[in-house]
Amino acid sequence: MDGLERQKREEIIAHCLEMNRSGLNQGTSGNLSLRHGEGLLITPTALPYEGMQAEDIVFLHMDGRAEGRHRPSSEWRFHRDILRDKPEVNAVVHAHPTYCTILAIMNREIPPVHYMVAAAGGSTIPCAPYAIYGSEELSRNALAALKDRSACLLEHHGLIATGRSLPRAMWLAVEVEALARQYHGCLQIGEPRLLSEAQIAAVLAKFAGYGLAD
Ligand code: 13P
Repeated sequence: MDGLERQKREEIIAHCLEMNRSGLNQGTSGNLSLRHGEGLLITPTALPYEGMQAEDIVFLHMDGRAEGRHRPSSEWRFHRDILRDKPEVNAVVHAHPTYCTILAIMNREIPPVHYMVAAAGGSTIPCAPYAIYGSEELSRNALAALKDRSACLLEHHGLIATGRSLPRAMWLAVEVEALARQYHGCLQIGEPRLLSEAQIAAVLAKFAGYGLAD
């Protein structure tokens, strides 16, 4: 592996460790990928992040062939499919953050309760319908939910956040978890008032000049 590939593998591991240290994720739940050459680098399945080495990260060709000493994450399909279908995306973060997962269990999308919902590209963070983990059906459902968005919830499962880089995708994952927590808090009091489509459109236009529109 050359220097750039090693650097990317180490970047993935650093973000996995940070994802668990910050409380965004726990245990070996979640998985990360980063576009590399004609394929992607992805975390191995079921391997604890602590002690993970650059050599443990798996290279996946776009046809699904894996290279490495471990099997790729069980969610390689949606990582591969997102990177294949969205050329502007270079990194995919999947995690099981508590508040995103609470809403996903309740099959609730995040409505425009806060202007930061627009950080994912529109007026909602959609919730993709349930399908068993690792399945083609889950990948199809996730891709449909991500059509005009850079993040979505997965019913009875968790969160996907994407970005042009790994720090960017992780930033979005943290923002969406904050939104989920805020929305969950609002629901304890009652049904929150929502921003209008026009108000969200104005935020999207403002983000475009601010480097926040994906
Ligand atoms: P992997 O360990 O196979 O990446 O699976 C974890 C997970 O979160 C499945 O959705």
